[in-house]
Amino acid sequence: MARYEVIGGTPLNGTVTISGAKNAAVAILPAALLVDGVCRIENVPDISDVRILLSILEGMGAKITKEDCGTVIIDSTDVHCTNPDAELVKKMRASYYLMGVLLGRFGKAHVALPGGCNFASRPIDQHIKGFAALGADVEETDDYVELNPGPDGLQGNRISLDVVSVGATVNIMLAATLLPGQTVIENAAKEPHIVDLANFLNTMGARISGAGTDTVKIKGVEQLQGGTYAIIPDQIEAGTYLAAAAATGGNVLVKNVIPKHMECITSKLEEMGAQIINYDDAIRIRCDGRMQHTTVKTRPYPGFPTDMQAQICVCMVLASGVSRLTESVYETRFFGYCSELESMGADIQINGKTAIVTGTDKLYGATVTARDLRAGAALVIAGLAAQGTTFVKNIHYVERGYERLIEKLTALGAQIRRIED
Ligand code: UD1
Repeated sequence: MARYEVIGGTPLNGTVTISGAKNAAVAILPAALLVDGVCRIENVPDISDVRILLSILEGMGAKITKEDCGTVIIDSTDVHCTNPDAELVKKMRASYYLMGVLLGRFGKAHVALPGGCNFASRPIDQHIKGFAALGADVEETDDYVELNPGPDGLQGNRISLDVVSVGATVNIMLAATLLPGQTVIENAAKEPHIVDLANFLNTMGARISGAGTDTVKIKGVEQLQGGTYAIIPDQIEAGTYLAAAAATGGNVLVKNVIPKHMECITSKLEEMGAQIINYDDAIRIRCDGRMQHTTVKTRPYPGFPTDMQAQICVCMVLASGVSRLTESVYETRFFGYCSELESMGADIQINGKTAIVTGTDKLYGATVTARDLRAGAALVIAGLAAQGTTFVKNIHYVERGYERLIEKLTALGAQIRRIED
């Protein structure tokens, strides 16, 4: 077990470079199994979810070479396994993308149900609905999902999602890329990593259009060839550093970002009083004095991301006045961190889907426990802004999704270290 020791009270100052997007990487790396040939994937973040995923792919027969600066080369010519290691699959959420990939490449899959951050009930009924619409015979138990071709074989189809789901949109795209006929996903998710996956697959020869809108069309192709692709920067990692700069009253240049992806976050921080300057691929944030209260409702992209709920909550906790934070994607997410923030002096009342946050001008160091990835990031931010020393436990959650967090924060002047217990 390891924990972070954070000595708070120092405004963050300097430059931070954002890594490749976690949620794009965990879709694109398994997508390399659809390719006949070698994929060179750049800007892959070195985080524990990616390391687990690469171990799963290697166990299935993929040849993986890692180069410096986040380049991963995947040759999946020798992959024949349709039953990935269940213990590894259960260690992360996005391992469910192996269902779509294996169905698309081999027409069958036997994949354990995924693990990962359980901040809410996370059903996969829309993924299953998609696979069934593509002609799969689906057997779902408490432990695994098994997919086989149904009586009419596998082919493209029209699928209208009942809820806007990132995972289901990705999984159906993965399954449909190599199937005969056209697949149309309606009410699709529009997150930047959906577009990134489509761009990756198209670079390798797929015919996907409409990614980033609510209708994605996939014309099946017989084969994908190898190629080179660079993953987009991580919207949520960038948002986390912006929130950390705001909460500590800092002045930070956040480099390697796509400012358009950040608008839903920067507009809220501006509303709270932060000064934001957008450059082509960087954003400067400066925050003098106390922020003001605001209202945030999380929504699918291009709305305010649920994955930034906890980090913006810390900014609200420190702002003047009463803020309202409404969660509309994962309702139980508040329970992952609000009580921990309260132990540091925050005043948060949860009323159904909404947290009413009454600002305070001081937080105090405490020993707190991360219950999921973004909750953990929020507790680190709170520790950086608090008076005194904070210990954040359960940091394996944070390490799922933040590359070199200690190194990056230390370079911004933070006093933080990892303690191995
Ligand atoms: C993805 C992100 C995660 C983020 C979430 C919401 C990845 C790897 N993870 O998770 O970081 O928090 O989007 O932006 O990209 N739902 C169903 N049935 C389904 C699927 C989803 O009812 O079959 C519901 C969920 O309970 C939730 C909503 O749809 O209320 C959105 O979930 P979804 O977009 O699927 O989230 P994930 O893909 O799991």
